[in-house]
Amino acid sequence: MSTYQGGPALPQERRLVTEIPGPKSRELLARKQAAVPPGIGTTLPVFVTRAGGGVVVDIDGNSLIDFGSGIAVTSVGNAAPRVVERVSRQVADFTHTCFMVTPYESYVEVCEKLNELTPGDHEKRTFLVNSGAEAVENAVKVARLATGRQAVVVFDHGYHGRTLLTMTLTAKNMPYKQGFGPFAPEVYRVPLAYPYRWPTGPENCAEEAAAQAIDAINKQIGAGNVAAVVIEPIAGEGGFIEPAKGFLPRIAEYCRENGIVFIADEVQTGFARTGQLFACEDEGIVPDIITTAKGIAGGLPLAAVTGRADLLDKVHAGGLGGTYGGNPLACEAALGVLETIESEDLVARARRIGEIMLPRLHAMQERFDVIGDVRGRGAMIAIELVKPGTKEPNPEVVAEIVRRCHAEGLLVLTAGTYGNVLRFLPPLVMPEHLLEEGLAILEKALSA
Ligand SMILES: Cc1ncc(COP(=O)(O)O)c(C=O)c1O
Repeated sequence: MSTYQGGPALPQERRLVTEIPGPKSRELLARKQAAVPPGIGTTLPVFVTRAGGGVVVDIDGNSLIDFGSGIAVTSVGNAAPRVVERVSRQVADFTHTCFMVTPYESYVEVCEKLNELTPGDHEKRTFLVNSGAEAVENAVKVARLATGRQAVVVFDHGYHGRTLLTMTLTAKNMPYKQGFGPFAPEVYRVPLAYPYRWPTGPENCAEEAAAQAIDAINKQIGAGNVAAVVIEPIAGEGGFIEPAKGFLPRIAEYCRENGIVFIADEVQTGFARTGQLFACEDEGIVPDIITTAKGIAGGLPLAAVTGRADLLDKVHAGGLGGTYGGNPLACEAALGVLETIESEDLVARARRIGEIMLPRLHAMQERFDVIGDVRGRGAMIAIELVKPGTKEPNPEVVAEIVRRCHAEGLLVLTAGTYGNVLRFLPPLVMPEHLLEEGLAILEKALSA
């Protein structure tokens, strides 16, 4: 892994030359606060000038270790060479035509590749939009039209975006929903198999959670009224909750038996992040529709809806699309990302990151009784923090650890329904010495 030669010529080192944030960042933060509403939060107020490989460099000259990838986006690294090369060429040729007005090849090529790479060898179609939320909204539109049904089933701890429909699909009230109602109709929430917090223990979790979910659907909605089930194969914002093994296959089987469209929201888990190209592959799930975004285009705004041809072909001409969906720069970026994943074998790199991180985190769990759970796959790893000796969420200690990591130049993110999860999403091209250094900073923060 440390042999990676790509990325811009940025020294792959942590280097702090001011306090964090430094004076120039603080000045910009004051401007931000005057110009941008507080609803747009800031995890770490350092203003970035460059990024690549495993580091983010700020305006004061500090080089920070990146355990966030811009929330699971720059998996191939920031400004990855193949992305830069393709986008640079494209920006000089043409920047936009609107694919619905006069098409171009790169859009078609991205769709062909997604049809080929996503789980299942059935005939598929793909169309492109701008964001994860837009992809999920469109997947629901397709499912409703194709089935002639209205109800949509989602899960506890689910996150699907911030638009009206996707915030309705999202489980957590604060900050995503508070005050933004009324919400979209015909959305129903059922239990998720959350092993760490399952009342009768992780060994019973998959079976009991699936039975409860299916019973709720049958009793409260009626299977015949359900257009789609929308689920993240690993709940992302909800706290990197990997459903107990067996849960996803049971839900997928129930959907098949009842003509319900199974939509896998792989916006966060997709594109090698979990040590497989798509997280659904882990239990051999073949979704009817899969939504992707984030890691798809190395930071350019792009998202996709890929699914069974017989479902997607039902939608009338003009029923799908948008001005910018599948913008040519974003399509070129996506092609550069797919080339990079293959040529750098980033699936294997993600697995290797997990192999390094999980044992280190488990060792920390032995030492520090605030770590209740260590979980995740590949380079999508989290620890859940609790009050010692209990499973009571401990968001206060998370905030303190984050503060210490940031001050030491390690960018980490939080997550979780209870705000008590530290999540780690390093770029898959992260050099190993930076991964180790980041873990050492985390350990130091935990011991403090
Ligand atoms: C699983 C999942 N779905 C949908 C979204 C929404 O994506 P976007 O922020 O691109 O709209 C996210 C974003 O975090 C996500 O993690």
